[in-house]
Amino acid sequence: MRHLRVPSKKTSFFLAELENDNLLFSGAGVVAIDADFRAIPLCETAPTILPEKYCNYEIVDIEEKLRGPTSYIERLTDYISADEFEANKHLWPSSHDQMGDLILIKIPDEIKQYSSIIGEALLAQHSRIRMVMQDNGVKGEWRVRDLEKIATREDKSDTTLVQVKENGNNIWIDPTQVYYSPRLESERQETLISAIQLKEKLGRPLNIIDPYAGVGPGVVCLLSKPGLVDKVHASDLNPATKPLLEKNIAPFIENLSEVRIDCIDALMIKNAEMLRDKFDLLLVNLPHNSLEHIFHLIPLLTNGASLLKGWAIIHEEDVDIIKENLHTIVIPHKPNLSEIIITPKRTYAPYLVYASIELHFD
Ligand SMILES: C[S@@+](CC[C@H](N)C(=O)[O-])C[C@H]1O[C@@H](n2cnc3c(N)ncnc32)[C@H](O)[C@@H]1O
Repeated sequence: MRHLRVPSKKTSFFLAELENDNLLFSGAGVVAIDADFRAIPLCETAPTILPEKYCNYEIVDIEEKLRGPTSYIERLTDYISADEFEANKHLWPSSHDQMGDLILIKIPDEIKQYSSIIGEALLAQHSRIRMVMQDNGVKGEWRVRDLEKIATREDKSDTTLVQVKENGNNIWIDPTQVYYSPRLESERQETLISAIQLKEKLGRPLNIIDPYAGVGPGVVCLLSKPGLVDKVHASDLNPATKPLLEKNIAPFIENLSEVRIDCIDALMIKNAEMLRDKFDLLLVNLPHNSLEHIFHLIPLLTNGASLLKGWAIIHEEDVDIIKENLHTIVIPHKPNLSEIIITPKRTYAPYLVYASIELHFD
C-alpha cells in the first residue's frame, strides 16, 4: 500500500492534513520506518501526484499495518451472519462495566438469544478479561446485581471474587453477592475532601461511621489518608459484605484505635448506647431511602462539629422542600445544625436526580 514518508515529529500534522484532504486510509495505522521517519497510509483514491504541500515527501510502497477491531461489536460477524448483525444493529450494547477481570454487560431482551456470542466477542476483544456476565439489574434491599455467566475464558477460574482498584486502593468484591459500583469513585473522593476539612476544624483525627458500607469502598478511601481517621464503624445488613469488609479494612487496622465491623440493620444502631453521640462523620449511602433513614441516624453524631454526608434520589424541584423537612426533623435533636447543602449530581431517571446531601453541625 502507498504511504507518505514524513519526519516522525511531523506525523500528527500530516495525519490531520491528509485526513482533511481525504487522502488518508483510516483502516490502517502509521508504520515506524526508523527512529526519524513514519509512513502514513494513503487511500486508494489518492492521486499519483499529491498536492503541492506534500511534494517534498516521498511516497513509499510498503505493507500496511491493519488495525484490529476497535470494539467487540465489529467482531460479532465472526459468529453470526451479516444479515442477523444488521437486523439488530441498533440493539448491540455499546457500553459495559469492568470489575477486575470481569465484564458486566446489560443486554436488551430482544437480543438475549445472542448473549453467549456477545460474551465470546468481548473475550476476543479484551485479552485480559476472564469472564463476561450478563447484568439483569439490581434486586432486593441489598441491591445486589442479578448476574448470569455468559462466557468464561478456557482453562481459567470461574470465581466471581475479584479485586478492583479504586483511588489507588485495592478492594475485594463479589458482584454476585454484594452491591458495588465503580461509578461512585469520584463521590468517594469528594467525601474525602469534606472529611479532611472536618479534621482540620476539629484539630484531631475523626471517628467515622458507615452504616451502609457494602464492601467498604467509602471507608477505605478515608482510611487510605494517613492520620485522618482514628476510630471506624462499618456495617451493612447484607451478611455477605462482612468478610469482604474485614479483608478490605485489614491493611489499615494498625493505624486505628478502634475498629467495629458488623452485620446490622442501620436503623438499630442507635439502640446501642455506646454508639450514640460518638461519631464526627456519618455516611448515609442508601440512595432510595436515605431521607427516611436520616432521622434514625442523627443520634449517632457527636454534639460538637460533625458532618452527615449522604446520597439520595430525588426530584430536582424538591430540593428546597427537602431542606425544609430535614431542618424541621433534625433541629429538635441537634440544635447545632448550621447548614444543609443538597447538590444534584446527575440524572438518574426522567425527572429524578442523584444528589449529594450534607448536614453540617457546628
Ligand atoms: C447503595 S449500597 C452502598 C454500598 C457502599 N456504601 C458503596 O458505596 O459501595 C447500599 C448498601 O446498604 C445496604 N443496606 C440496605 N438496607 C440496609 C439497612 N437497613 N441497614 C444496613 N444496610 C442496609 C445494602 O446491603 C447495600 O450494601
